[in-house]
Amino acid sequence: MNPIILKGTIVSAPVLGRLEITPGGYLAAEEGRITGVWPVLPERYAGAPVEDFGDALILQSFTDLHLHAPQYPMLGMGMDLPLLDWLDAYAFPTEARFSDTGYAREVYQKLARELAGHGTTRVCMFSSLHTDATLILMEELERAGITGYVGKVNMDRNGGKDLQETTEESMAETLRWLEESQDFAHIRPILTPRFTPSCTDALMAFLGRLAAERDLPVQSHLSENTAELALVASLHPDCPQYWETYAKFGLWGPKTAMAHCVWSDARERQAMKEAGVTVVHCADSNQNICSGVAPVRVMLDEGLKVALGSDIAGGDHLDMLDVAASAIRASKARRILDGWETEHLTVAEALYLATSAGAAFFGARPGFGPGEPLHALVLDDSQLPKPHPLTPEERVERAVYRRQPGAIRAVWSQGRKIFSAEENG
Ligand code: GUN
Ligand code: FE
Repeated sequence: MNPIILKGTIVSAPVLGRLEITPGGYLAAEEGRITGVWPVLPERYAGAPVEDFGDALILQSFTDLHLHAPQYPMLGMGMDLPLLDWLDAYAFPTEARFSDTGYAREVYQKLARELAGHGTTRVCMFSSLHTDATLILMEELERAGITGYVGKVNMDRNGGKDLQETTEESMAETLRWLEESQDFAHIRPILTPRFTPSCTDALMAFLGRLAAERDLPVQSHLSENTAELALVASLHPDCPQYWETYAKFGLWGPKTAMAHCVWSDARERQAMKEAGVTVVHCADSNQNICSGVAPVRVMLDEGLKVALGSDIAGGDHLDMLDVAASAIRASKARRILDGWETEHLTVAEALYLATSAGAAFFGARPGFGPGEPLHALVLDDSQLPKPHPLTPEERVERAVYRRQPGAIRAVWSQGRKIFSAEENG
């Protein structure tokens, strides 16, 4: 197998707040794994074919650590209600359609391709409660070259018309889904109690046992909206805080990702830090459905693990550069609300959250570390007018803030090229 050698302005975010930039550099991989980044190509690659992207930016590809695949058809719709009403009015009826496997195939094929074209190569994704549609989703992601985790959703209470399981069905279907998920190479199952209001204690206890017995990761929602908090408190009077409704069933640890955490106070944040739970910040969704402004700066300063999610279709798009920009804007809103006492996120920090921080949930080392599978993309910004000759940092800032349709020219995932603008017109 030939090595992959890419030439361009190589940019990675190996630590929070610092970019590593190699202008006119080379990024190489062998057997799909990164061997290094250099300003001059090492002797051992003399004569090997180089894909020369000129001055284009070569970035780490993105990780979307929270999104709802069956909400893809309602992207950009139904933003006029707060969370619990929004679920009943829009999300649940849309998800109910995924009992139809033909519909699932059609939608998930499009979603997988759109993710690849946007340079998202790792995902942590909610499916619906339907086992067969979930397996189709996993198949389509794998076919498109996307890697990561997908969860069949568990929900045995407070569901919608045609969108609820009995406790027994939920348990049996989870076991069937795990059994039938075994053959995927790059897409793995993650246990997915939708959120505490959706799952009885018996179901939560079952999932907690399963997580422990099979060492499975877990994803859910936490402290997104104030009406949700009140509902959870009424369902679990024994739990002073929301996070305890997961912790008491063994659904709380270093392999747990919790989306939103808008209203997590110092004590709840401390519980996340101690357990090594990853917070998935979903700034677009938090604003679209009026959930609030998560204290993302404070969470980072306190040393929590934080990554980013598009949370479609609470979020209205899949573009992780745009999601990174939204995270910066949310931190600025938080700064204003905090009386200017907190700092906002920098571009370098937001890029780290959209790449290395998310990849860490899958055990990847940060940046373009040697030995890691190649996850990279080429972003060509040469068509844009410039106010003056731009530094690489300015180009990265513009890539984050300015939507540039068609700028992503090629994407590699797990060492394989999964998107090429030339081949996609
Ligand atoms: N909480 C429970 N389910 C959902 C969902 O589908 N979207 C969001 N944003 N929050 C949730
Ligand atoms: Fe969500």
